[in-house]
Amino acid sequence: MPRVLNAIVAACPDLGIGKNGNLPWHPARLSNEFKHFRKMTVTSSVEGRQNVVIMGRKTWFSIPAKNRPLPDRINIVLSRQCKEPPAGAHYLASDFSSALRLVDVELADQADQVWIIGGSSLYKEMMETLGPRRLFVTQILKQFECDTFLPEICLDKYRLLSEFPEVPQDLQEENGIQYKYEVYESIEQ
Ligand SMILES: NC(=O)c1ccc[n+]([C@@H]2O[C@H](COP(=O)([O-])OP(=O)(O)OC[C@H]3O[C@@H](n4cnc5c(N)ncnc54)[C@H](OP(=O)(O)O)[C@@H]3O)[C@@H](O)[C@H]2O)c1
Repeated sequence: MPRVLNAIVAACPDLGIGKNGNLPWHPARLSNEFKHFRKMTVTSSVEGRQNVVIMGRKTWFSIPAKNRPLPDRINIVLSRQCKEPPAGAHYLASDFSSALRLVDVELADQADQVWIIGGSSLYKEMMETLGPRRLFVTQILKQFECDTFLPEICLDKYRLLSEFPEVPQDLQEENGIQYKYEVYESIEQ
């Protein structure tokens, strides 16, 4: 069975995911949405193994320093320029396929699920990679100004699932911001 690649993202109606190196809704906080992100990315299905989070350099630095590395997960940062992992990161990879190779070879005995956690170019590469993929999308139902965007989800390549374990189906609201969770699965090509 080929490994499933997972991506998780929260996006505004125009698919905006970031603004000035932060989340578009900053300084508002969506604490339950963050707990959902944590639960999905931390929960491993194999005892004794940890999930892996793969992120671009700017996403790494968008995480408050006190929260880096993301706990209980193996943190891989992608950069073409860095010569060593940024302080606190577990691994550095110079491109997406090297990051996946690192998981499959060096981390083969430790790693369980792989989660792509941003930003734009990593989501794009993941969405265009062959093999089984799942996209865990939080649709933020309010528009904020954005400068970083998620590529459009092609519905001839991905189908929206009607339900998924541990993912609430009802409308969520925090700090006056409504949102809903969606899970897309890649369609065999
Ligand atoms: N809403 C959400 O769910 C969500 C999730 C994640 C991030 N964000 C937001 O998105 C913004 C950051 O995302 P971003 O798209 O601007 O940047 P990013 O993808 O996090 O980082 C870009 C950098 O990562 C490295 N990189 C990216 N793809 C690479 C590849 N294939 N191979 C090697 N290195 C690669 C490069 O680093 P070098 O320049 O060092 O070579 C590149 O300049 C922030 O505003 C953040 O808050 C939002």
